[in-house]
Amino acid sequence: MQFFKTISFVEGESKTLTISFNDKEEDLYSSLSDLSSNDIRNLIGVNSLKELSELAYTEHRTLSQQAKYLASDAIKRKKILPAEVTFKAGKNDPFQRWYPYIEGYSPSFVKTLIETNNISDTLVYEPFAGTGTTVFAADSMGLDTVYSEINPLLRSLISAKIEVQSLPIEKRKCLAIDFLRAYENVMSSLGPVDSNLMKAYRNVFGKSKYFDDAVLKNILQLSYRIKEQEDALVRSLLNIAVCAILVPVSFLKKQGDLRFKTSKERETEVKYISDVLPVKVSEIYEDILNFDYRLSASHKCISPNAKAIGGADISDIGAVITSPPYLNGTNYIRNTKLELWFLGRLKTDADLRILRDEILTSGINDVKSSYREAYSICESSPLLNSVITELKENAYDKRIPLMAVCYFSEMMLVFSGLASKLKNGARILIDLGDSIFCDIHIPTDKILIELLETLGYNLESNQVLRTRRSRNGSVLSQFLITLKYIKV
Ligand SMILES: C[S@@+](CC[C@H](N)C(=O)[O-])C[C@H]1O[C@@H](n2cnc3c(N)ncnc32)[C@H](O)[C@@H]1O
Repeated sequence: MQFFKTISFVEGESKTLTISFNDKEEDLYSSLSDLSSNDIRNLIGVNSLKELSELAYTEHRTLSQQAKYLASDAIKRKKILPAEVTFKAGKNDPFQRWYPYIEGYSPSFVKTLIETNNISDTLVYEPFAGTGTTVFAADSMGLDTVYSEINPLLRSLISAKIEVQSLPIEKRKCLAIDFLRAYENVMSSLGPVDSNLMKAYRNVFGKSKYFDDAVLKNILQLSYRIKEQEDALVRSLLNIAVCAILVPVSFLKKQGDLRFKTSKERETEVKYISDVLPVKVSEIYEDILNFDYRLSASHKCISPNAKAIGGADISDIGAVITSPPYLNGTNYIRNTKLELWFLGRLKTDADLRILRDEILTSGINDVKSSYREAYSICESSPLLNSVITELKENAYDKRIPLMAVCYFSEMMLVFSGLASKLKNGARILIDLGDSIFCDIHIPTDKILIELLETLGYNLESNQVLRTRRSRNGSVLSQFLITLKYIKV
């Protein structure tokens, strides 16, 4: 059996190289098959076909052999694969697949970080837990964690996963059966609708039409029946299954941000509940039943809001592993508004506003002019100061410089509050991307490093994990920042 992967190189005119893999090279092929050309070029450290030809000539290999040699060498040296730093690498893993979260990274990435940084026998803090990737990867390496996550949907997802994976295997079999029975029971007699949920829909979304009428009715009926189920964990698992299919059955699409599907997308991409819900339920059922991993360490949400970590009752944190929100306009609450509504977390418009005020400011709609005092953060970073001056002069929207200063002052709030909770010498690993607004590059990584150094966080390394292109074609990067905290 032969496998093929084509990489493109851009050198004046585009050129491509198709690499062939035989049976024995299947593992290498699987590591590379999902990577983009850009990712592979970064991995092998070669940008042009000319450069690759020269190396191949010197080392007496064909072009295909040389590319495979460089790729397998990079992987052997434990270079993190670019795909691992996205959610993609773990998206089919048991439990990870319950609620796909494109903003997340993969368990294998976190495990590699723990291994390569020799993090052992210490408490790990994850300030922006998302779906809990750090928490579960740390457990598999025997590490206790404490975490923060502001989004109630994600907190309930993490709690349900912890609860299930803490059960002994025999109890999990009973849970899987109870879950499936409850689902069949819910579906067998859909009748009344959840009128409170309908009221909340009107209060929060007004006249906006996110679902076909029949689909909305069906969702309200599901909610009514799920609420009748006695067991809290079973209810929570059923809610997760419904939350995971809400966007697919709606007129909305998550592509970075949540937006309406185009009329063409509406023809093919609006799924039927009867198609997608049974699939999600069977994934959850199978994972409960078959994934025989039991958590060995302890995991606790200490403060939902990372900005309030300074007030949490915790000490002796030895490592922080996290991927904070990027300064890119994504609003993590708005992106999950359908799910939050379904879970009863959004009853009025004010609920949405409260959550949006609590999240780390990273989107343009999160900023208010009353946040002006945030500009004082520029005094601590000359780099930020010059970026903000440029943004003030050129940004088409005055909220853009304000959003940037809010982002950095809130990050400082998290890391200054955290400082007193850390052990001397604690290791901080941050996966972060840079940004571009109005053609002005914001070196988020470098600004954050400059700011954190004022708090006693010392830079050990700043490594490019992968590169991507922004809408205007400029190259943006994803970095792994490694710092060591030294008490002052
Ligand atoms: C890039 S995502 C992290 C994804 C995570 N690494 C994973 O694999 O699932 C950033 C997360 O930070 C959360 N967040 C934003 N503001 C927060 C705050 N003030 N406190 C705690 N979490 C916050 C968002 O809800 C989002 O889930």
